[in-house]
Formats: sequence, C-alpha cells, structure tokens
Amino acid sequence: LSNGLARTPQMGWNSWNFFACNINEEVIRETADALVSSGLADLGYVYVNIDDCWSFATRNLKGELVPDPKTFPSGIKALADYVHKKGLKLGIYSDAGAFTCQVRPGSLFHEVDDANTFASWGVDYLKYDNCFNLGIPPKKRYPPMRDALNASGRTIFYSLCEWGVDDPALWAGKVGNSWRTTDDINDSWPSMTTIADLNDKWAAYAGPGGWNDPDMLEVGNGGMSYQEYRAHFSIWALMKAPLLIGCDVRNMTAETFEILSNKEVIAINQDPLGVQGRKVQVAGIDGCRQVWAGPLSENRLAVALWNRCSKVATITAAWNALGLESETHVSIKDLWQHKVIAGDAISSFSAQVDAHDCQLYIFTPLTVSLSEE
Ligand code: GLA
Repeated sequence: LSNGLARTPQMGWNSWNFFACNINEEVIRETADALVSSGLADLGYVYVNIDDCWSFATRNLKGELVPDPKTFPSGIKALADYVHKKGLKLGIYSDAGAFTCQVRPGSLFHEVDDANTFASWGVDYLKYDNCFNLGIPPKKRYPPMRDALNASGRTIFYSLCEWGVDDPALWAGKVGNSWRTTDDINDSWPSMTTIADLNDKWAAYAGPGGWNDPDMLEVGNGGMSYQEYRAHFSIWALMKAPLLIGCDVRNMTAETFEILSNKEVIAINQDPLGVQGRKVQVAGIDGCRQVWAGPLSENRLAVALWNRCSKVATITAAWNALGLESETHVSIKDLWQHKVIAGDAISSFSAQVDAHDCQLYIFTPLTVSLSEE
C-alpha cells in the first residue's frame, strides 16, 4: 500500500501471543516503558500494538467503539499520548466482520466511523482481523477500511489479518502494508516451521510498502528451546517478516533479550533492498538440512543454515544455489557468533549446526583484483 509506511517490515510488540485477553492499560504502559528502558525501542521496536479485548462489548449510543471501562479506564487517546511521549507508536485492533474473534464489536460496515475514531485517538497502526465475516470474501471487506483510513487525515499502518484466505499476496499489495499468509502461530516448533514454509511460497510478492506476515514472534514465551527461538528469529528476519515481539518484555530472560536485540539480524530484516529471502537448498531426510538466503543491499547476501533434523548436522551452501558464480571469493560473517569466520571462501561453505538451530551469516563477495601477483 503506498501510504508512505512499511518501507521496511514493521517492528514492535503485540499483546496477543503472551497476554491474549488479559490486557489492561497498565500492561500497555509498562510494556512501553520496558521497550524503552531495555533498549529495544532504540533498535527499532516502536509499535506498541494492543490486540483483541480492548473494546467494550457494545458500541455507545452514538454508534462509536468504546474502550472497556474496567481495563482501559483512561481511554485509548491517553495511551496514545503516553506512548508518543516516549517516541513510540500505538497500534489497535479491529475486525472486518460483525465481531472480533473474542466477540467485541467488529468494524464491517462501520469502516468510516471507526477509522475516524482511531485517528481521533492518535492511533498509528490497525491490525484488522477476519472473524464473523458473514461469508463475504476478504477482497471485498478489506479495501473499505483502507479507504477509510486514508481519508481519516492520519497516516495509519494497515495490517491485514485475513489468515491467508484467498491468497492475499496476490491482491493485498494495493490494500495493506502487510498481510497474513497463514493461520495463527503457536509457541511450538511444528507450528513455527510449518508457517515458515507456507510463508516462503509468497516471497516474490513482498517488498517496500507491503510484506508477507507469517504472524508474530513467539520468542521468549517458553514453548521452544533457545536454538529453536534463535532459528525462529533468524528466519523471520531473513523472510522480511514483521518483527512483532510476542512475549512479556517486562520480564524477559537474558537469552530472550539476546535474541531479540541482535542488531545485525535486525539489520537483515530492515535492509533497504527489501527482498524476502527464501529456502534455496534442501538435503537430508525430509529435506531437513536447509539453506535459506536472499540478497541484501551493497551486493551482499543473507544466508541461513537451518538444521531442522533431530540431530547435529553439517550443512553446505553451494554458491550456485545462492546465485553466486562458483569462482566468487566471499567473506563470511557469523551474526550469532559476531565474528568473521571465513575471510576468503570459494564455491561452497559448510558448517556444523546443532539440532533445530540456525546459523545466520552475511556473505560479502570480494572484488578480486586481476592484476594480483
Ligand atoms: C485471530 C488472529 C490473532 C489474534 C486473535 C485475537 O485469531 O489471527 O492474531 O488477533 O484473533 O482474538
């Protein structure tokens, strides 16, 4: 969507994966505080997104959405002011149907009123869900909210949450700044790997202005190992997925913080070239030894060796699978070890990778001088 936003994938936090419906204004304020004090905000995590359950069960007599007075007594405008003072942005949630998934009022046929309400509150981001959709196709239900947001007088990031229904990559580029390619993620290895593969299929359709969304991060929620979370974060970064933290950032472990705050991995995600990396090579039983890669600015490549087998394995990336000439000399930096591990590799590169772990590298082709003696 050409509204000037999403030149790179959105980064921030969303309440759903950890809190589900147990949200209130303190949680949102404390999360904003924690994003700033931890340093995550400075690394680019600026959207503080409230998911389902912020709204009261019914509209007011004027037909307007109202925040639940028990959990959001100060209102959404006050929260927007609060996060804006910290240099952050506020996101909210509604649904392109009669109700949200947790049965709060939906915005279908209320698009103009609700977009104006969100704009008047100072909201910067809308996640727009797909429950209770009356069987109307997403292609019909999502554009009216785009038009209403565009006409609201405020620039609002538009995140489609149509669960991949009707292959959104094929039509949503003109509708939203990101679109979900799959069903909901859950905090498990099978869910995360399945979603990565489904999202991979649509790589060609992502780019500045509109991104494939394989759903929010589960890093730090406890259902996967350190290695699995590192793989989750590496692959989401390489796939140019939105980096929306889904854990309780007020109580992160050092390991969770280490993963989410890796600057070089974030830089892959936020690279100005904006090309989604993809699965380029598979080997082993069920193709569990995988190479994922994609181009970066300045002629560099992001390369991931992802071991989806149940045992440690050696994975080899061949230059031809990466789109490099086999004689190209390459310098290789390991983004989790934080060091250059090969100064002058040629034709292929192999590394041992722990079960379910992922190594992530930047490959920089070297310009070899022909007059070298
Ligand atoms: C759907 C969405 C989730 C979340 C919940 C909230 O399942 O896909 O991301 O927003 O609704 O009810």
